[in-house]
Amino acid sequence: MAFFLEATFVGLMFFGWQKLSKQGHLFTTFMVALGSNLSALWILIANGWMQNPVGAAFNTDTMRMEVTSFREVLFNPVAQAKFVHTVAAGYTTASVFVLGVSAIMLLSGKWPRVAKRSFAVAAAFGLAASLSVVVLGDESGYALTDNQKMKLAALEAMWETEPAPAGLTAFGIPDQKTHSTHAAIKIPYVLGLIATRSLDRPVAGILPLVAVAETRVENGVKAYDALERLKANPADPRARADFELSRRDLGYGLLLKRYVADPRTADKATIQKAAWDTVPDVPVMFWVFRLMAGIGFLQIAVFGAAFVLVTLRRVDTRWILWTAVAIMPLPWIAAESGWLLAELGRQPWAVAGVLPTFLGASSLTVAQLWTTIIGFTLLYGTLAVVEVGLIVRTIKRGPYAHHDQPDDGEAAAIHLSPAE
Ligand code: HEM
Repeated sequence: MAFFLEATFVGLMFFGWQKLSKQGHLFTTFMVALGSNLSALWILIANGWMQNPVGAAFNTDTMRMEVTSFREVLFNPVAQAKFVHTVAAGYTTASVFVLGVSAIMLLSGKWPRVAKRSFAVAAAFGLAASLSVVVLGDESGYALTDNQKMKLAALEAMWETEPAPAGLTAFGIPDQKTHSTHAAIKIPYVLGLIATRSLDRPVAGILPLVAVAETRVENGVKAYDALERLKANPADPRARADFELSRRDLGYGLLLKRYVADPRTADKATIQKAAWDTVPDVPVMFWVFRLMAGIGFLQIAVFGAAFVLVTLRRVDTRWILWTAVAIMPLPWIAAESGWLLAELGRQPWAVAGVLPTFLGASSLTVAQLWTTIIGFTLLYGTLAVVEVGLIVRTIKRGPYAHHDQPDDGEAAAIHLSPAE
């Protein structure tokens, strides 16, 4: 339904300017927005499940993972936090874009009346959206505390458990080899408040979490062994009982398959190696998180300043117009950083705690994979060039391309104060 709404109405929206009534066109625009939001919802419910696989269990009769509660999948707290954060990120991206295009028009003195209005709308909406993206980002961080402790510890480059009240590392140089963070500058209390909403609970560090993972890998070997016995004899009550005791850690046992064909043959050193595989790339996690969050706070500052200037009727202040143009790429950089954080932070798992990424790899040949990657890159690259070209052309043609020019001096250039 989401795809149907998006695909159908986006065409009507683009090509229906002169064919639909004003109300009809507005309706199609709303439908495109609804379709995009619904798409985001379903995509993030699927992604949220891969990060926190609730409402599903391994069925020993069919030997596969099956959904046990669709309701739990839908109302997965991780998916909800992701949905609101990502959608708010989309709203800031749109606001930064409209603010930037309005600023370009104002700087070049074209269509000042429309540009001033769209600048004001983008500033107000952008301020609300950029505040939401930070508040909801904080909610995403809180969701990690219970479900993806390792991801949280990695993005903080927190090697040891941080005692309560936990401090946040504002700056530091994480070193994955020595398991330490050089030149760390900490802000007291903040991490405790973000991660636990309290000042009396500690936040688990990477090294203690690796120790937990080691125990889980050992337990996973028991689950694997019980499963093999069940495969040989599905009626074996002992094997079933053993599996029930250790099923939660089956995925951890499967991590050993990177090193040995049968996890039951793994020695202590191999188990330790598998436990260390549960640590994602800490320096990358640390920096992409700070890049995303830094851009989040910068956007609030720019929208806040733009909003104040709009309120004071000083939209023609040059520095804010140039700033609005300069920050246009930032929401995309923040969003890509967010995705890197979410997806690299989930490694080594395709489905967290259940399916290691290397076991979920496709069985296609390398040649087939290259053909697919090159094909998609060319297709989407061409579409991106066409889309950007169309956007630039539409901006150059201005807001009256589909309407009559007003006769009240809209085309006249605005005068920017030389002092600004
Ligand atoms: C202080 C500001 C911010 C905080 C605290 C924050 C927090 C987070 C966290 C913790 C995640 C990882 C969620 C997960 O792995 O499940 C995330 C992901 C993400 N963030 Fe942010 N974020 C902030 C600002 C931004 C901004 C400004 C944007 C874009 C304009 C953005 C876009 C994204 C996207 C697209 C994702 C990936 C979707 C997801 O998995 O949730 N974030 N953010």
